Amino acid sequence: EKSGYEHFMLKEIFEQPKSIHDTMRGRLLVEEGVIKMAGIWDYIEKFKNANRIIIIACGTSWHAGLIGEYLIEEYARIPVEVEYASEFRYRNPIITDKDVVIAISQSGETADTMAALKLAKEKGAFIYGICNVVDSSIARITDAGSYTHAGPEIGVASTKAFTAQLTILTLIAFKLGKHNGNLGNAEFMSLIAELDAIPKKIEEVLDSTHELVQNIAKDFVNATNFLYLGRGYNYPAALEGALKLKEISYIHAEGYPAAEMKHGPIALIDENMPIVIIAPKKGHYDKIVSNVQEIKARKGKVISVVNCGDTQVSEISDYVIEIPETSECFSPIVASVPLQLLAYYIAVYRGANVDQPRNLAKSVTVE
Ligand code: F6R
Repeated sequence: EKSGYEHFMLKEIFEQPKSIHDTMRGRLLVEEGVIKMAGIWDYIEKFKNANRIIIIACGTSWHAGLIGEYLIEEYARIPVEVEYASEFRYRNPIITDKDVVIAISQSGETADTMAALKLAKEKGAFIYGICNVVDSSIARITDAGSYTHAGPEIGVASTKAFTAQLTILTLIAFKLGKHNGNLGNAEFMSLIAELDAIPKKIEEVLDSTHELVQNIAKDFVNATNFLYLGRGYNYPAALEGALKLKEISYIHAEGYPAAEMKHGPIALIDENMPIVIIAPKKGHYDKIVSNVQEIKARKGKVISVVNCGDTQVSEISDYVIEIPETSECFSPIVASVPLQLLAYYIAVYRGANVDQPRNLAKSVTVE
């Protein structure tokens, strides 16, 4: 049931403090300084000896995978590749029994992801699942895994499953890093305390940005294009923001790493181009400032997502959405929330069927 919300998507956006908390429950033990994940622990040697980790997924889950790459490479220093399941399965990939393959899937039924996993398994890789739907096909075929405990996601556009996937990937990265010695104890302790506080921060963001984002959305109901830019951890968050907008509002949107702008997309910028920029303080902030200056010089309309109290980017933005400061690795979780709201309200004001967008299905069980 929608519990008083107009759509499942809005309800699910608002459920995120709880769904993230539920995903960490029993796993993140802050006082003890421990991350408990049986699926990882039982196969810790596989992870420890892995040549590399290959993450396989589609759509939003693939975006979570990209952020997983940043997390696992930064904190556990294990090389990670992220692949679209549909590409991986058809390109005769090199896989050996020294590879760990992680599949990410909300539904656990995505045909391409399933086929890619079967292939990896045949070639002897150890396969790990991050699924939301319990006992789904992908959950069953994997050697081990961690469920996201986001609860049922009814809206076709994935929201709370995405942030739950990021939560699991964060836990995995920290656990592996702590175990293999790449993440020192002091940093580990401070990161897990910060992770524990993320649900509270999401709650604050929902409170403080809901009305504001609604008003911003009104000004873009007739937009025909959007660019979303971010760097580092927030480059995949930009891809995800753009995907949310295009799938439910039918406005063409593209996500880009901010520095790639000058290699092409900058040609698109004029006074009619709205550009969403994710610019938290930690993570290439100065570089982003110059990207925003380049956009403003071409009269693009800038909607920025910045940390509370920001001045430099805020001063030159047309619209400013503030989120609390976090370590860089958590910023995509927090920044995604107002971008979900933005896509939602633009779609609602355009009269679109946000819970069941045209041409899309919740589980893509055919390739
Ligand atoms: C986007 C969306 C899709 C799915 C993709 C993978 O909002 O819902 O892009 O993320 O079809 O689905 P799962 O995660 O079920 O494998």
